[in-house]
Amino acid sequence: MTQRKGIILAGGTGTRLYPLTTAVSKQLLPVYDKPMIFYPLSVLMLAGIREIAVITNPEYMQQFGQLLGDGSQWGLAISYIAQASPDGLAQAYLLAEDFLAGAPSAMILGDNIFYGNDLRSLLKRADEEPEGGTIFGYHVADPERYGVIGLDAGGRVTSLEEKPKIPPSNYAITGLYFLDKTAPALARQVEKSPRGEYEITSLLNMYLESARLRVVRLGRGHAWLDTGTHGSLLDAGNFVRTLENRQGLQIGSPEDVAFQLGWIDRGALRDRAKSYGKSAYGQSLLRRVNETF
Ligand code: G1P
Repeated sequence: MTQRKGIILAGGTGTRLYPLTTAVSKQLLPVYDKPMIFYPLSVLMLAGIREIAVITNPEYMQQFGQLLGDGSQWGLAISYIAQASPDGLAQAYLLAEDFLAGAPSAMILGDNIFYGNDLRSLLKRADEEPEGGTIFGYHVADPERYGVIGLDAGGRVTSLEEKPKIPPSNYAITGLYFLDKTAPALARQVEKSPRGEYEITSLLNMYLESARLRVVRLGRGHAWLDTGTHGSLLDAGNFVRTLENRQGLQIGSPEDVAFQLGWIDRGALRDRAKSYGKSAYGQSLLRRVNETF
C-alpha cells in the first residue's frame, strides 16, 4: 500500500472562542503547557504517519510555520496549504488532493484531543486498511453538537447525521478520519448542506452507503476532549495537567512520540528539550532523556 499521508485541518474562524481567537488561530491556543495543534499532530505520529499537511487560514500560516517548521526536528515532513474560506471539512480533501497524490489519508481536526492507553494499536489497525474508511465513535453527553452515529438494535451503524436536533444515539463522530485514496474524488460530489457547508458527514455517508466504512467505538478508557468553548478548553487543560503532573510523562508531545518511535535519537531529544529553555515542558523532556525505561 502507498504510505498513508496525514492532514491536520487547522482552519476555521473560531468565533465561539472570541475574543481568544480574535487575533490568534484557535489551534495555536494553549492546552495547559503546549499549543493545541501538538495534540492532533502527536496522534498522526502515533499512527506512524510522517508526511503531513497542515491546512490553515492564509493569515496564520506564518505562525504555524514558526511553530512547526518543516517537521524535520521530529523526523517528519510538514507542508502547509492555505484555506481561503472555510466551507466545511470535506473541502480539505480537495485542497489536499495534490499533496495526497493518490495516497490514502488520515485527517484529524486541529482542535481534537485524544488520549487512551491502546490508542496506538487502534490507529495502527486503521492505518493497515488500504480500502474504505475508518472513523471513531465516542459516547458523549451532548451528541447534538457533533456528527452522530445511528445504530440498530444489533449495534450496526445505520446512519450518520450532522448535528441532529434529535440525536439517534449518544455516539459522536470524532474528528479523525482514515479514508482511502478515493476521498478527494468523492469529496467533489459532496453538495452544500442547508447551513452552506461541505459536510464531512456527507462524505462519510458515501462510504457507509457503499458498505466501505468501519466504525470503531472508543471505549470508556479513552478521553476525547473538546476545546470548542471556553469551559471545555479549560477542562482539557486541567485534564492534561492532572495526568502530566501525576505521571511525569507528556501527553501530546511530538518530541516524546518521535523518541518513542525511534524517529529521533536521545541526542536529538536532548537538543529539542534544551531548545525549550527553562520551561516545564523542556524540563520534562530533559528528564526523559536520562530515563532508560
Ligand atoms: C465537526 C464535524 C462533526 C464532528 C466534529 C468533531 O464539527 O462536522 O461531524 O463530530 O467536528 O469535533 P465542528 O466542530 O466543525 O462543528
